Amino acid sequence: MGRFYLTTPIYYVNDAPHVGHAYCTVNADALARWHRLSGDSTKFLTGTDEHGQKVADAAVKNGVDPQTWTDQTSRRFREAWDALDISYDDFIRTTEPRHTETVQKFLTAIYENGYLYKDVYSGLYCVSCEDYFTLEASDEGQCPIHHRPLTEMSEENWFFRLSAFEDRLLEYYEEHPGFVTPETKRNEAVSFVKGGLRDISITRTSIDWGIPVPWDPGHVFYVWYDALINYLTAIGYGRDDDQVEEWWPASHHLIGKEIIRFHCVWWPAMCMAAGLDPVSHVQVHGWLLVGGQKLSKTMAAEGGVRLTDIAPVVLTDEFGVDPLRYYLVRETALGNDGEFSHEGITARYNTDLANNLGNLVARVSTVVGAKCDAQSLIPGRDTELRTEAERAIDLARRAWERFAPSQALEATWGLIGATNAYLERHAPWKMESGKELDAVMADALESIRLVSILISPVMPSVAQEIWRRLTLEGSPTDSPQDESLVWGLYRARGPLSKGEPLFPRIRSDE
Ligand code: ME8
Ligand code: MG
Repeated sequence: MGRFYLTTPIYYVNDAPHVGHAYCTVNADALARWHRLSGDSTKFLTGTDEHGQKVADAAVKNGVDPQTWTDQTSRRFREAWDALDISYDDFIRTTEPRHTETVQKFLTAIYENGYLYKDVYSGLYCVSCEDYFTLEASDEGQCPIHHRPLTEMSEENWFFRLSAFEDRLLEYYEEHPGFVTPETKRNEAVSFVKGGLRDISITRTSIDWGIPVPWDPGHVFYVWYDALINYLTAIGYGRDDDQVEEWWPASHHLIGKEIIRFHCVWWPAMCMAAGLDPVSHVQVHGWLLVGGQKLSKTMAAEGGVRLTDIAPVVLTDEFGVDPLRYYLVRETALGNDGEFSHEGITARYNTDLANNLGNLVARVSTVVGAKCDAQSLIPGRDTELRTEAERAIDLARRAWERFAPSQALEATWGLIGATNAYLERHAPWKMESGKELDAVMADALESIRLVSILISPVMPSVAQEIWRRLTLEGSPTDSPQDESLVWGLYRARGPLSKGEPLFPRIRSDE
């Protein structure tokens, strides 16, 4: 049993959450729940990124002051996560006093270590990215991500000597091969550093919506510079050293692929400059696309995708919380891009949930209810289903440990499929009551018990409901998984009955 500190990116509050953010947050939640189930002492952090030009602009556009705007929009993120049953342990807002305190302490350490200097900066800026581009990196003067014109910016700023860290970063990547996963994304970070690093400007005088630079009033920190530090704010950096010691650097950041450079190049260099070990692992995920385009708040604001059609709460009304969570985790493995569509989620729902899982629970409950004395059923010791179950458990455990929740579900559905096939072979609905039937059904019930534990990180309510239908006590997460994911423990406490369908089918024309 260990420790597990996992973070999502903190989301910009320029607009409401959409299903792309839900993709990241739900996957993170599933990972956190798996680690809690494994008995790890777990801290799961998410939150909102509230400073910078983009957020200040959004406030102006909506006719309110930035603090009012961020209060409103941050609340919408929190509400979306609550609606999606996200088990965050802490929700950080970068406008909180605890964050100002940590940011100022951390950056003062970098300043005192001699890695900051003042200079004039001019360059092409994209407000949507909150990032500078060189002319070569731009798309003929346009942002390559948002496809809007870049603006020429010039100001006297504080600079971070990122260029001083080329060798140390390459050494760090070399010595920590698992620092960035998947491997292709690690290579991206490596080649970025090998391409040569320029110093970066980390303060602004053109806006005041930011955290003040303690040693130079009139400057605020550049939003990315304050944002990355949130991961340390939440564990008390500058306020509670013991807590930092406890959680850092053995921590994990889950991030989208467009922010690799910030998390895998800048952030470790910042930590080194402050005299702190960099985070030990960054897991990168891809994008959910709609019609081949990345969903984004910025695009939506410009009339592209209709954000209201893909708001997490709209989708949970339509499909239910757990089915949406299942689709987000199962359909697109971390690291790949995926296409989000109503057809896609409907297909997963009808096939994986209604036909495979729902049907399994229904047919087993029906036969046991009609023909067995449930309380006398005991799973067999050396049976064909046991072999299948143990293989699936082993695959799922290993997948969870390597940040592959989609594969953990695939393995679990392997067991569901094997159990359905087992029932087809034995056709218990044609058998008479008696020892032979009892043996078949006891194994099927045990398989379902194991399935309900295996799905609990992704579908906590469904897992609980199946547990209840099996007449088991408590909940599937009461014991650590190394004790509960063991063949042979099923004992009914009462009779079983058919019950309502777990997943009523959705007609695709609806
Ligand atoms: O980048 N598919 O915030 P952000 C998958 N504030 N994931 C998506 C997505 C999509 N279509 N759209 C967004 C920021 N995301 C900064 C982070 S961290 C110190 C600061 C996910 O609101 C993706 O993980 O623009 C992205 O990295 C994250 O939302 C935050 O996006
Ligand atoms: Mg973004």
